[in-house]
Amino acid sequence: MKIAVVPGDGIGVDVTAEAVKVLEHVGRRRGLPLELKFYPWSADHYLKTGETVPAGGFEELSSYDAVFMGAFGDPRVPDMKHAADILLGARFRLDLYVNFRPVRCLDDRLCPLKGFSAKDVDFVVFRENTEGSYVGAGGHLKKGTADEVAVQEDVSTRKGVERILRAAFEWAKAHGRKRVVMSDKSNAMRFVGDLWQRAFAEVKKDYPGIEASHLYIDALCMQMVKDPRQFDVIVTNNMFGDIATDLGAALQGGLGMAASGNIHPGRASMFEPVHGSAPKYAGTGKANPFGAILTAGLMLEHLGKSSEAAAVEAAVAACVREGAATADVGGSLSTSAAGDAVCARLRL
Ligand code: NAD
Ligand code: IPM
Ligand code: MN
Repeated sequence: MKIAVVPGDGIGVDVTAEAVKVLEHVGRRRGLPLELKFYPWSADHYLKTGETVPAGGFEELSSYDAVFMGAFGDPRVPDMKHAADILLGARFRLDLYVNFRPVRCLDDRLCPLKGFSAKDVDFVVFRENTEGSYVGAGGHLKKGTADEVAVQEDVSTRKGVERILRAAFEWAKAHGRKRVVMSDKSNAMRFVGDLWQRAFAEVKKDYPGIEASHLYIDALCMQMVKDPRQFDVIVTNNMFGDIATDLGAALQGGLGMAASGNIHPGRASMFEPVHGSAPKYAGTGKANPFGAILTAGLMLEHLGKSSEAAAVEAAVAACVREGAATADVGGSLSTSAAGDAVCARLRL
């Protein structure tokens, strides 16, 4: 199992160390042939060398069984040039069209909603990951003048929309989930909205056993908070999926608890926590590593190691239950001690 590891910036470095610690622990216990190679791509590396991703970098990444990334973002690089090249570069260049973001609350003490408990928060967001307003189509006219114009296009292709819709339905079918909700803003964004609506109407016909419905993205956000039990699978575009999954993270106990996979079925895929580089916590020992560790679990699952993945999630849940965690989720441990606590609770 060859895995490329790109810790990145800020707390990305801190939490990746713990995810790697847990992976290596699982590997030793289970005799998995883990081979990790670290890549320095980050803001530091960019500022020192002027390089974000070297020529051939993505071809190299695609030769691994999987890629693990921490987070990117550094106040010294205000235009996020390196993050765009590395993170969005990986998503686009490796064509990782499924951003798989589970919203699962692992313990009652993490559920922020009055009258609900952990079991009520258990759905997955399928975020389209290669199109939308992230494609970088647009530009400036008369930049810096009083007549300045900025345009940023939102691009949806029929193929791109159809494949993420199918991925959502297929996952629902394979996991015995009953409902798929497609979310867009077709009342305001008429052109892309129309394409999403027509593609959804067609794709859902192939899944008669699954209840397919629609919510505008604003209403979806409201319903996620009002009653999360109504959701099994949500499928939406790149930008709305980004926003909805930070809200989803809050339903799981915060950004420190949220995991994600950037997947192209059958190809080398990339795994990273939902959170960013939280520069104010970098190197302080305050960052919660559980989102990154759960992300390592998703990666194990993707690599066919289901029982190991389940053990990782159970160990994190046990930590939360026992308060063996960082302060954001009610404990008093450092990042590194929280990683140790997960290792100590792994039942393999
Ligand atoms: P962020 O996710 O880094 O942090 C927002 C807040 O959430 C933090 O201040 C902190 O209070 C909390 N938080 C996040 N992760 C946590 C953790 N593991 N443990 C404890 N608390 C945690 O978002 P931001 O502040 O908006 O962005 C900071 C930088 O990260 C920006 O440059 C942004 O563009 C970038 N970013 C990168 C990614 C990524 O690489 N995947 C994702 C989101 C944001
Ligand atoms: C995420 C992040 C990224 C995104 C940023 C850093 C470009 O917020 O992975 O959720 O918007 O996809
Ligand atoms: Mn985000």
